[in-house]
Order: sequence, then C-alpha cells, then structure tokens
Amino acid sequence: MQIVCKNLTFAYGKRGVTAVKNLSLTIDEGEFFGIIGETGSGKSTFIQHLNGLVKPTTCDELTVGEFNLLDKKCDYKKLRSKIGMVFQYPEYQLFAETVFEDVAFGLKNFASLTKEETEKMVKEAIEVVGLDYEKIKNKSPFDLSGGQKRRVAIAGVLVTKPEVLILDEPASGLDPEGKEQLLSLLHSLHKSFVKTIIMVSHDMNTVVEHCTKVALFNKGEIYCSGRPSEVFFKLEGLEEIGLEQPLTGYLKKELELKGVNIESDLTVDDFVYNLVKKLKQGS
Ligand SMILES: Nc1ncnc2c1ncn2[C@@H]1O[C@H](COP(=O)(O)OP(=O)(O)OP(=O)(O)O)[C@@H](O)[C@H]1O
Ligand SMILES: [Mg+2]
Repeated sequence: MQIVCKNLTFAYGKRGVTAVKNLSLTIDEGEFFGIIGETGSGKSTFIQHLNGLVKPTTCDELTVGEFNLLDKKCDYKKLRSKIGMVFQYPEYQLFAETVFEDVAFGLKNFASLTKEETEKMVKEAIEVVGLDYEKIKNKSPFDLSGGQKRRVAIAGVLVTKPEVLILDEPASGLDPEGKEQLLSLLHSLHKSFVKTIIMVSHDMNTVVEHCTKVALFNKGEIYCSGRPSEVFFKLEGLEEIGLEQPLTGYLKKELELKGVNIESDLTVDDFVYNLVKKLKQGS
C-alpha cells in the first residue's frame, strides 16, 4: 500500500497550534521509512492522520492504498486492520488479565473468527515478536519485563496482520540493549511480516542504520526527505532545526576536510568497511 499525502494542514482547535503545515509526502510500499524532527515538529500529529485518528483541517489528497481518507465513507475499521499503529510507550495500554487476552483484543472487530482461528492468529503474533507463546500466553502482562511488555503491545497490533506498521518512538525508554533488540526485531519484521514500516525517531544514528528513506520534520513542515545517506550527508543546517549529524556523517565530513573521501551509505558497517578499504589503499 502506497501512502500519498498532499498539502495537509492540521490545527489543534480554531485558535490552536498549526501542528502540520501544507505537508506533502509519498511513502512507497516496502520502505522502512523514518520520520525525524525535534520535539513539537508535528511527527505524532502527522502519523495519526494515516489511520484516521486525526482528521485534516485542510488537505488535497490523503490515500493509504485503496483507502481515501478524505472520503466520508472511508471504512476506518478495515483501514485500521491494514495499517497498525504502535503509540509511544504502548505498554501503558496493556490492560487484560493475560497476555493472550491482551493480544486477542486487537481482533475484536473480527467477530466472525472461530476460537481456533483466533488462537492461531494470537500465537503467530506472539511468536513473531520473539516471545514463547506457551510460556507467556497465560501470564499477566504486568508481570513481564519492560521489553517483553512492549513486545506484547506490538503483538496486539500485529495480530491483524497489517500491511503497514507505524511506530511512534518505539525504542524510547529502553536501555541500550533493549533498544538494539527492538530495532533488530523491527528489521526482521520488515518485509517478512509487514511490508512497510514507518518509524518516528529522535535518533539520527538509528534512522541511518535502519531506514531506507527519511523525512526531516521542522515546525510542521518537511525540511527535506530522501535516502539517509543523501539527507544526512549533504545537509547543512541540521543543528538549526534541532538535529545532530549521525556519527558516520560527521566523520565523513571531517575526513573530507582532510582530503579523504569515503563513499558510504553511512551505516556503521558500511562506513567502517569503506574506511578500512581506503586506509589499505593508502598504505
Ligand atoms: N492535543 C493537543 N492539543 C493542542 N496542541 C497539541 C496537541 N498535541 C500536540 N500539540 C501541539 O502540536 C505541535 C506538534 O506536536 P506533536 O506532538 O505532533 O509533535 P512531535 O514532533 O510528535 O513532538 P515529540 O517529539 O515531542 O513527540 C506542538 O506544538 C504541540 O504542542
Ligand atoms: Mg511525538
């Protein structure tokens, strides 16, 4: 499902903040798309438009695959089974007595499912987030670790097998190891279980490492977008919009000033590989 947004503006209330201004963005199927920008730049407001939780103040076009979100007859129930939304700190929304019930809650709109079908889908969702179904299904979500709770919350969104998964700051509040594990989970989910991932993040290094495309938000507008290596390397003035260069982008620039040009997509592995190659050539 391709996502197309043209000239979207959204204001909170008549005299409220204009959180998103005249924003146009296309996200193709298959991308691991990063949305990055400083606090208050409109990231969360924008993504909530994509499953109809927030309705535009004005907009020329807003489509998610075959769904036209500007059409009053848009089938939001169906849309929300295809485009899953994981809010920031999703574990705060866990509520049921068991992990099974919590994940199964995501299927509440599929009244026609048999018990066996429900079980099969819940089992698959729990396993796909890397948890042991038999061990965890009857536990209380509140007895789990922070990282496990977050995975259960994500399973509750994946249970409908969405084509697009949107996550708002999925790694926030996790320790470095938990963060790495979560990002590697998202990586393995991408394409094997969900076609498209849209991830809101504050962290440039995370975006460079994992995203195929990125859009930089600034005060409700898109400052620039493209492949991470294009956006982060060429871009002057990141600091002006409250963002920092990824470490590899910074190193690449510093080395260029010293006459050493490293061709790299700016992921750490690729950067180190090409740096070593260059050093070997030079010696
Ligand atoms: N419910 C609300 N009512 C009024 N104004 C709001 C509301 N939610 C957000 N805003 C304002 O809209 C603007 C955009 O907020 P938004 O939460 O979309 O930014 P963000 O980029 O997600 O920020 P953060 O990185 O802090 O999560 C901000 O100025 C914010 O104060
Ligand atoms: Mg936000």
